[in-house]
This record gives sequence, C-alpha cells and structure tokens, in this order.
Amino acid sequence: MNYLSKINSLIKSEVKRQKDSLVMIPSENYASPAVFAAMGSALSNKYSEGYPHKRYYTGNQYIDQLESLARDLALKIFKLNPKDWHANVQPHSGSGANMAVYMALLNPGDKILGMDLGAGGHLTHGSRVNFSGKLYKFSYYSVNPKTHLLDYKEIARVAKKEKPRLIVCGATAYTQKIDFAKFAKVAKSVGAYLVADIAHIAGLIVGGVHPSPFPYADAVTMTTHKTLRGPRGAIIICKEKLGSDIDKAVFPGIQGGPLENVIAAKAVCFAQALAPKFKQDQKQTVKNAKLLASTLSRNGIKLIADGTENHLLLVDCRNLQISGKEGANLLAEAGIYTNANMIPFDPATPLNPSGIRLGTPALTTRGMKDKEMKLIGLWIAEILKQPKNKKLRTRIKKELKELTRKFPIY
Ligand SMILES: Cc1ncc(COP(=O)(O)O)c(C=O)c1O
Repeated sequence: MNYLSKINSLIKSEVKRQKDSLVMIPSENYASPAVFAAMGSALSNKYSEGYPHKRYYTGNQYIDQLESLARDLALKIFKLNPKDWHANVQPHSGSGANMAVYMALLNPGDKILGMDLGAGGHLTHGSRVNFSGKLYKFSYYSVNPKTHLLDYKEIARVAKKEKPRLIVCGATAYTQKIDFAKFAKVAKSVGAYLVADIAHIAGLIVGGVHPSPFPYADAVTMTTHKTLRGPRGAIIICKEKLGSDIDKAVFPGIQGGPLENVIAAKAVCFAQALAPKFKQDQKQTVKNAKLLASTLSRNGIKLIADGTENHLLLVDCRNLQISGKEGANLLAEAGIYTNANMIPFDPATPLNPSGIRLGTPALTTRGMKDKEMKLIGLWIAEILKQPKNKKLRTRIKKELKELTRKFPIY
C-alpha cells in the first residue's frame, strides 16, 4: 500500500466532508488559510523550550520575536494593559491550560468549586475520570432545576459551605451569559482564586457580544480553535503577579518544547480578531443562534433554558421519540454535524444522553445569515420529529449540498 497517497486521500475526503456538510458542533470552526500557512510552516522544526529570551536552545532569535508578538496580541484583543496582565501562549490544549493553572495556584488535594458536568461544565472542571477530579477535591455548583440558569445565590451558599481555594467558572454546554462580576464577588467572599475558562466564548468576548471575565478573574484560560477561529491550542492570561508561577507550570511543569508553528498561527488569529469584520461576525454568530433557536422552538423542538444568549443551543430530546445520540446520528445522516450531550439533571446516561448540542460559529464563518438559519432550523426540526423518515433525510442532504455550494470555504 502507498501510505502517503492513502493519507493524502483521507485528508482530501475530510476536507470535502467539511465543505459539503453543515458543521454545527459549537466547539468547531473553520480556521483561515493564513492560520493554516503558519501552522504548516518550518517553525515546526524548531526546539525552543523556555520563554522569549530565556531559552534552552540557540537559534531562537526569530522565534522569540514571534512568541513575544503572540503574547502582546493576546492581551491586545482583550484590551488589557501588559503592566497588569500576563499571557502564556504555549498551552497545547484547553485541558492543559486548565491543568497548568491549577498546578500554579494550588497543591494536589486542595479544594476547587466547579460547574457540574451534567449542567454544562467541562471534564477539567472536576470530572472523576479526569486528572482534575483525581488530583483535587472538587465540589460542584449546578443550574437552577426549573430555569436551567446559573443561580449565583446558590453558588455563594455552596462556596461558603465548601470553602474552596479556587472557583472555576465557564462552561462547555451553557447557553446563557455568565456574570463574571458575580462569580468574583463569591470568590472574594471565601478568599478563593477565580479562574474563568472561556474556551467556548473567547471570540464572542473579543467581539463584544458576551461580558468579559477581565478584570474579575485571577486567571483566564481559553482555546484558540473555537469561536476565536485559530489553530487547535490554548492560551492563559493571568494577573501579572501570577505570571511567573503560570509560566513555570506550563513549562517545565507539564509541557516540553512549545509548538512555535501553532503559536505563530495563534498570533495570526489574534491579528485577524482585531479586524472589524471579526466583531461583526461574532455579532452575527449570536444573531444566528437566536434565529435558529426561535425557528426550532416554533416548530416544536424544546430547548434548554428556552433558547440562547450565545453561540450554542441545547435541544431537549425527551419529548421526541429519540435519544440525543439517535438525534445526532439522524442529523449526521443528512449532513448536519452536532453532538449528543447531557442536559441538566439528565435522567439518561452520559453515553446515551437526552440532549443535542449545536451551534452557529462555523456556519457564520461561511457567511450564512438569517435566511439560511431559518431553513436549517426547519430541516433540523423535521428530521428530529420524523426519525423513521429516511427519504426526508436523503432529500435534505441533497438540498443542503446545494446550499453549501453557495457558501464556499477554502
Ligand atoms: C470549557 C472548556 N474548557 C476546556 C476545554 C478543553 O479544550 P481541549 O479540547 O483543547 O483540551 C473545552 C473543550 O471543549 C471546553 O469546552
């Protein structure tokens, strides 16, 4: 077998899948060709353990300038003063960024208060199968059982009872705005650090359509590949006084040599995020999600928290005759990619949960707007309400391919 041609053909097939389908997994997006160019550059060849001007290898004169620029731009997109804030652009992933922050601020066994996974928290917010749940003593806050909204009074009550050393806020499946000022008040009242994990909403914050965790959080982690439209990876921004501890936790704490090609791609995505077009697109992402939500609701699909204030929606499948997994698979059959997800207080299991999580960042990057959202909302509602109708899915798949041709990527 010619392995290289096999690899090449699989890459081409995957690109075609991304072009011909509707990518509605809210954590996915389309990075720009400029981001890819930086990622695919010869920077990948260089070892540069350490930080700008403090490296363990020679030959980093250009890498140092690039990483410094990436750090400056990371602060600039959030309008932060470098005198007060520090950026580390080396984390390979959002999970690693969270690990580094916990390592920098805590000792193993210390108490953390995090969002319950079933209510929308991330694995690194204390899941028992994750390093976080194994190394730290987690307690959890949830959402209100009726409204499915964060209940800050209840969070304050749990914090008072549990006395954590750190509170982590931010979510992976929460459709509403997060009030970072209220979280900061709770953290201050119990003397805890506040860490905001804005993996999902970083782009929305830069675009001014979601409240910012700055200056409220002591440290903020985010992935660069979701709403930020950059390369797969993450960054940490923290208060200047914590910078040295955070840097040490990332390297040599948990990582070796940084991926400088990816760091250059992060710098590209930050530079692109400074353009007015980025801001407009983030606004449209939220507008699109709201339109999709109202179309689905009007067509008999129940949504957690009755809709959305950000880029994602959580469909409650319990009144349909399908599980979340079945629903996601039916949509995928028609070329609409989403993911099965737990809903708050889910009576079903994590492997076969009752919800479907979907969102609008990737569709918006393609240029889709109001008209397309209404059409896509109708398709999703029809598919979920008629699980036995294979002909419907075949028809929609054909129509959907026509639609994607009008919104080319790459
Ligand atoms: C809130 C949140 N934090 C952290 C992560 C982890 O990011 P990664 O997959 O890069 O480890 C995610 C990923 O979806 C997330 O949603």
